[in-house]
Amino acid sequence: MSRRQGDAVIDVTELTVRFDDVLALDSVSLSVDAGEFVTVVGPSGCGKTTLLRSVGGLQSPTAGEVRVDGDPPESAQAAGDLGVVFQSHTLFPWKTALENVTFLRELAGRDPDRDRARERLVAAGLGGAVDAYPRELSGGMCQRVAIVRAMHLGASTLLMDEPFGELDELTRYDMAASVLDSWRDSDRTVLFVTHSVPEAVLLGDRVIVMADDPGRIVDRVSVSVPRPREEATMDTPAFADQVADIRRVLRQNRTEDTHPDR
Ligand SMILES: Nc1ncnc2c1ncn2[C@@H]1O[C@H](COP(=O)(O)OP(=O)(O)OP(=O)(O)O)[C@@H](O)[C@H]1O
Ligand SMILES: [Mg+2]
Repeated sequence: MSRRQGDAVIDVTELTVRFDDVLALDSVSLSVDAGEFVTVVGPSGCGKTTLLRSVGGLQSPTAGEVRVDGDPPESAQAAGDLGVVFQSHTLFPWKTALENVTFLRELAGRDPDRDRARERLVAAGLGGAVDAYPRELSGGMCQRVAIVRAMHLGASTLLMDEPFGELDELTRYDMAASVLDSWRDSDRTVLFVTHSVPEAVLLGDRVIVMADDPGRIVDRVSVSVPRPREEATMDTPAFADQVADIRRVLRQNRTEDTHPDR
């Protein structure tokens, strides 16, 4: 394994993003090490997607700086070193599930490896959907194709924005287990947004806790629950304690919505 433990892959320094009168991110700093799995939780509208889009080079900062592997994120994106799963799936509608999965590798100049792509789709419970178009699939199935696509790209850094939002409870756990397996078997760095505190604790080495108005980081929690973590881990007292601690921080920082027009 070539994990360069201690090297920062993602470096966000005093990042501020303003949309008109909304301060989506207010001087956010975050460093993610090579091979680290960092999860992000926070209320709706606290800037999680804006943070991920900034790290992915899709959102320009108002102030501050983002570096991925020491360079502006656009360089990593162009080199196929950044895999991104958005909150909505963004599949290409004119391509089948299999073609969607292989296309990003082709764009990055890599072997599309159709056989492996097919295997990954089958493993994600999509064996019957390999040749289907997105319009023929449910929202949750499209989301799974998008996750498989990001894994298949083989990028060293993975940005995932609520990738399991549309999945049912059991499929959600299966996909989380497959993301964890793939992360463990690679030297991948993951930044993962979720609304679910238990999911953040199950997956993360660290949990970044955000608050809104303005969007900011209010806590960084090292997850002490040992790995490997599996479904039964969620029934342990250590897991429950950590979830309760994070929920407490979220509650303490909850703002009343004084902006009814927002
Ligand atoms: N392109 C944009 N133009 C104007 N305002 C925006 C834009 N993108 C985001 N915002 C605003 O910035 C704030 C943060 O939005 P963001 O989508 O990052 O939140 P979030 O934490 O991802 O929320 P959710 O959990 O609902 O996905 C919100 O107030 C949102 O309305
Ligand atoms: Mg979002």
